[in-house]
Amino acid sequence: MKALYFYGRFLPSFTGIGYVARGLPLRAVKADFSGQTWVVTGASGGIGRAIALGAAARGAKVLAVARRAEALADLAREGGAGIIPVQRDLSLVADNLLLAQEASRVDVLVNNVGMLETRHHATAEGVGRMYATNLLAPFALTERLIADGKLDGGAIVNVASGGLYNAPLNLPGLDAPAKSFNGFVAYATHKRAQIVLSDTWTGAAPGLVAYTMHPGWVRTEGVRSALPWMDRRIGPLLRTTAQGGDTVLWLAAQRPTPEPGALWFDRKARTAHAYARTRDALATPDEVIARLENDLAKVVS
Ligand SMILES: NC(=O)c1ccc[n+]([C@@H]2O[C@H](COP(=O)([O-])OP(=O)(O)OC[C@H]3O[C@@H](n4cnc5c(N)ncnc54)[C@H](OP(=O)(O)O)[C@@H]3O)[C@@H](O)[C@H]2O)c1
Repeated sequence: MKALYFYGRFLPSFTGIGYVARGLPLRAVKADFSGQTWVVTGASGGIGRAIALGAAARGAKVLAVARRAEALADLAREGGAGIIPVQRDLSLVADNLLLAQEASRVDVLVNNVGMLETRHHATAEGVGRMYATNLLAPFALTERLIADGKLDGGAIVNVASGGLYNAPLNLPGLDAPAKSFNGFVAYATHKRAQIVLSDTWTGAAPGLVAYTMHPGWVRTEGVRSALPWMDRRIGPLLRTTAQGGDTVLWLAAQRPTPEPGALWFDRKARTAHAYARTRDALATPDEVIARLENDLAKVVS
């Protein structure tokens, strides 16, 4: 019942209907990213692919990161010389640290990779796969880039989800063990924690700005596999991948002043609380960061 209410409430706004109603199809993102280097994670498909193509079409050099070599080659064929395919398993901290080491200066980092799975899986590094992919490994990547001075003057865009409306900031949902694992709680917890990360990273290096955005509901392979009913029932209403990535390109082009606690959606900073119950945080931002640092130290030790 709660789920029905959630999806009913946000359907007009989060689908393509909202994108059209806000007049965004008539306001293409005008930007020249020539001379910029972007890193887009999860770029071989879905929203990440559209972001990579959109940035490359506007002149950026894009390190497009994902696992499937063939899908990356296909992206490079479509996107041209601006697309540099990088094959990595982003659920592994080691692969993210290697990526950070290999990258030179990064003007825009798009932490797009993300997943929702209903059963618990662990990575070879002993971390819950969802936690690793959604939060811990991107945390490792971003922190290392910042520490190495590679994001000075840059922008970070964290791709979250309206699903974060379903959980307050909390620690137990981050990496729950298999016996108490609930993929939807984990997803909401990870996506809410991304707001803490953006707030932490803004100003963490000279001129660095960070944003958390959500793409709306987009017709992708991720939705088809995690929420098949959504694809079946309202597939034609879902956003295109370009519509889902629109606000990422807009943020990178405009670089508005970051607003602490905000969730950017359709080119505006919006509240991150649709329900009063999530305003009562069960953990502080400092506790979330400390937990990430602690878990990261365990993996790299
Ligand atoms: N679609 C929506 O309606 C929606 C709504 C809200 C939020 N979001 C968020 O938007 C982001 C993108 O979603 P999407 O629907 O476009 O996802 P998707 O269709 O599942 O695509 C995911 C991309 O990430 C890559 N990927 C997945 N696991 C990876 C790993 N371990 N290492 C490297 N690459 C990996 C995949 O490529 P490979 O298989 O080649 O690795 C693919 O390119 C996610 O953060 C998601 O939570 C999506």
